[in-house]
Amino acid sequence: MADLTIPEGGFWPAPEIPQPNIYPMEWRVETEKLAAIYEKSKRMVWNPADLPWDGLKAEDFTREQRLGIMYWFAVLANFDASGPAVFARATIQAFEKHEEDPVRKCFFSITRDEMNHEECCQRTIAKLWPGGPLNWTPSDDLESAAHNNIGWLYHNGGRYWNGYTAAVGKYSLPVLFTSFMMGEMAASTLFRGMASGTQHPVFSEMFQRIGRDESRHLQICMTILENEWPGLTDDTRSLITRQLRAGFVFLSMILWEPPEGFWELPPYFLSNHRVLMNHARDAGLGVLSYEEQAENWRVAMARIRAIVERWGIAFPAIPELDLEGVPVEFIDPEEIIPVF
Ligand SMILES: [Fe+2]
Ligand SMILES: [Fe+2]
Repeated sequence: MADLTIPEGGFWPAPEIPQPNIYPMEWRVETEKLAAIYEKSKRMVWNPADLPWDGLKAEDFTREQRLGIMYWFAVLANFDASGPAVFARATIQAFEKHEEDPVRKCFFSITRDEMNHEECCQRTIAKLWPGGPLNWTPSDDLESAAHNNIGWLYHNGGRYWNGYTAAVGKYSLPVLFTSFMMGEMAASTLFRGMASGTQHPVFSEMFQRIGRDESRHLQICMTILENEWPGLTDDTRSLITRQLRAGFVFLSMILWEPPEGFWELPPYFLSNHRVLMNHARDAGLGVLSYEEQAENWRVAMARIRAIVERWGIAFPAIPELDLEGVPVEFIDPEEIIPVF
């Protein structure tokens, strides 16, 4: 065996690492509960390719129904397709900020899950409407209306990314995570409702699995917030109030219907949106009725209100759902934190 080399005068200390650097050199665990959730996420992993796709046949639907299903998944993709990038960005941030190890791992697991959710949109659309969401040529008025609405949705989806990438560095964790929590509350509500409404075996399994993932994401967000909320300042509290209204305005597009105040849409968007959603409903996708959606969304928002009020955060007024609170008027694209 070679002899160790010990320099005269002792070992030379390695240079200080300039901060922030990309990774911490240890696996610090402060929140055991998060570590346990991460373990669970690995055991619950599923593969969208293994859903019973042979049971999803284009010929089982009318053309209007197929278009309606494609349209619904295109609306969903407008949210879910941002998921992997949004959480990948948050994962990098957690490494740079040297968050404890389970926080980094949980963000990674959400990124993994969101990639699966996006894949469900991709696979369904590929089976029922090849070329969708946008890479196809409409051949009549109904198809043109769908194509045009999807184009407008995509326009809106493109408006918040710069704001988000800035927000990740700018906002403190409680602000970011209140928005994340709200997105996960919305997503778990949506998929629970859809799973109960659908009659199709592929969609039933898909929505149940996605719903389970979203509930786990919600648990992650709540666990992180319980650590972060005690140190809130008044400024942060009022920022969170605005964020809650922004989340409502943004997420309503998929949970219910888009309210005024952020969405840039042509005047005919909503009536055509309703026609297309009705075709998706008629196809047995599990899209709840307008009233059922409103009721589910109202219950979810009321749960969020109960959570944030415990920490002295004022809830914004949601007159659309008859929920009282602090009026928040205009929402800027910069204020949208896109999560699902
Ligand atoms: Fe998701
Ligand atoms: Fe999620």
